[in-house]
Amino acid sequence: MTKTALITGITGQDGYYLSKLLLDKGYRVVGLVPPGRLGSVSKLDELADQVDICPVALTSADELIEAVYSLQPTEIYNLAAPSFVPASWEDPLGTLDLITGTATRLLKATRQLGLSTRFYQASSSEIFGEVLSSPQTAQTPFRPKNPYGAAKLHAHWTMVHHRDRYGLFACSGILFNHESPRRPPRFVTRKISLAAAAIKLGMRDRMSIGNLDAKRDWGFAGDHVEAMWRMLQADKAEDYVIGTGVLHTVRDLVSAAFDCVDLDWQKYVEVDSTLVRADEHFQLVADPTKAKENLKWQPQVSFEKLIDTLVTSDLRRLEAGKISPTGAAS
Ligand code: GDD
Repeated sequence: MTKTALITGITGQDGYYLSKLLLDKGYRVVGLVPPGRLGSVSKLDELADQVDICPVALTSADELIEAVYSLQPTEIYNLAAPSFVPASWEDPLGTLDLITGTATRLLKATRQLGLSTRFYQASSSEIFGEVLSSPQTAQTPFRPKNPYGAAKLHAHWTMVHHRDRYGLFACSGILFNHESPRRPPRFVTRKISLAAAAIKLGMRDRMSIGNLDAKRDWGFAGDHVEAMWRMLQADKAEDYVIGTGVLHTVRDLVSAAFDCVDLDWQKYVEVDSTLVRADEHFQLVADPTKAKENLKWQPQVSFEKLIDTLVTSDLRRLEAGKISPTGAAS
């Protein structure tokens, strides 16, 4: 029988890679998209015609119950969320409602309908926040430092409560940073790859950046969505930390991107103190041992390969006039 996967946040970066993976495996893929955002389905490019789209207000418990009931999905992937961390300071309550509200409503719908549907909750390394030890595992204490991390933690606990109390097959993937050419350019990887490509092509002459010493565990989004799927195929519902286990600084990232286009980054990059985030002295880096052992999951794309892919993609898209040097689609 054909398996049905229901995805919220299908039009985002992870939604694209997850849809591709599931379609390749023969799933019927259904995206729950708010009626006001149906235009964003075109972001799925060649996949837009291969998935089904169900217009649903994620803020409506009734609409979600109806959608889950009529679709009877084998698996639900709850990816929908505002994802740019600094923006959560502007609207903490809206962030909480979008992240926690959607997770809670979807979990309740799954429980009330008594389905055996397996549930994936997109969690984030931001729930670790001000860590006392590195690397992090699913046992590391959670100390989020911003409204985004706090909302993701609330959604995580809500999922755990549903699993413990009602026996749902539900799990959280605590994902560290994962990137691709589909990342919007406000995130640091695409910001840098786009700037390096645009400067190389003479379309820009410099780039402003925040903290060059900030460190992250950057992996490839295509690798990380594979872990989401594997979590739902396991015998037991458990939470997993998903990341490469390798830390790099933003300086490493800038240097690697400008190396790709044979430019000396120090001539083009300037620090803008307004872009430096407060309280970022901690090191968020995954210990993916459990995912490697239980799920046989292993990241395939190295940091160097990832950056090369981003820069090459931005060079091509700029040359073809598909994006502007500052990133807007044109
Ligand atoms: N965006 C941005 N712009 N980040 C900068 C800049 C800059 O000019 N300069 C330095 N950084 C640093 C940030 O301070 C942070 O330490 C790091 O680069 C990565 O920032 P982002 O790319 O914006 O991602 P993030 O780490 O805040 O969050 C992403 O990863 C999380 C973990 O998977 C997002 O995808 C979150 O939604 C996700 O949960």
